[in-house]
Amino acid sequence: MKHISVAVDGPAGAGKSSVSKAVAKDMGYTYIDTGAMYRAAALFAIENGIDIRGERAALIIRLDEIKIALKNENGAQRVYLNGKDVSERIRQEDVSVGASDVAVIPEVRVKLVAMQREMAKTDDVIMDGRDICSTVLPDAQVKIFLTASVDARAKRRYDELTAKGVECDYEKLKKDIEYRDKNDSEREMSPLKKADDAALLDTTDLTFDEAVERVKELIRDVL
Ligand code: DC
Repeated sequence: MKHISVAVDGPAGAGKSSVSKAVAKDMGYTYIDTGAMYRAAALFAIENGIDIRGERAALIIRLDEIKIALKNENGAQRVYLNGKDVSERIRQEDVSVGASDVAVIPEVRVKLVAMQREMAKTDDVIMDGRDICSTVLPDAQVKIFLTASVDARAKRRYDELTAKGVECDYEKLKKDIEYRDKNDSEREMSPLKKADDAALLDTTDLTFDEAVERVKELIRDVL
């Protein structure tokens, strides 16, 4: 039997991962967070003192040293970089910006896309990222472009960090999101763009539960 693939793309902070995670849980699919893989690659660069924007070649020659594993532990996805659990570290702001910078490098994308395709072969998956509908899983049965206004995304990120007790500056968060939008949309290889055959889901005025329900409806419509 062919496995089910649900592909979810969209800009930073649109709620792709939290919505996809909830849908995966409700429908019994495996959730694959491809952004976490770009984040892990960025963390490798940071930890090894490689300046991603200035020293691309230095990262490319060390790509084989980057071993990323996504593991499901007690219902939560954990991210390992070379055997170390980096799940929390990769959510920090320096890694967010670094991930957008490593994602511009074609050699990094080729490596991670190959890993992502392998993961979708063995399970029913919901995979989120920027190029899933167009490049990673062009044959996915369900394709969704999940987005929201920049202000809504910055506010959600602000609320999320504040709730965790992390001090943050709203304007700085908004600037980071704008930087990543521009970087992700203007890169040469697989830029962030809605695929022609993807359904558009704008969550600016939706609650989290409403967004989850809409995604489930889109899946049910197709299956
Ligand atoms: O979804 P995220 O914020 O965790 O992604 C981190 C960065 O990785 C984001 O700026 C763009 C990049 N990315 C990508 O280029 N392609 C993907 N499939 C997933 C993420």
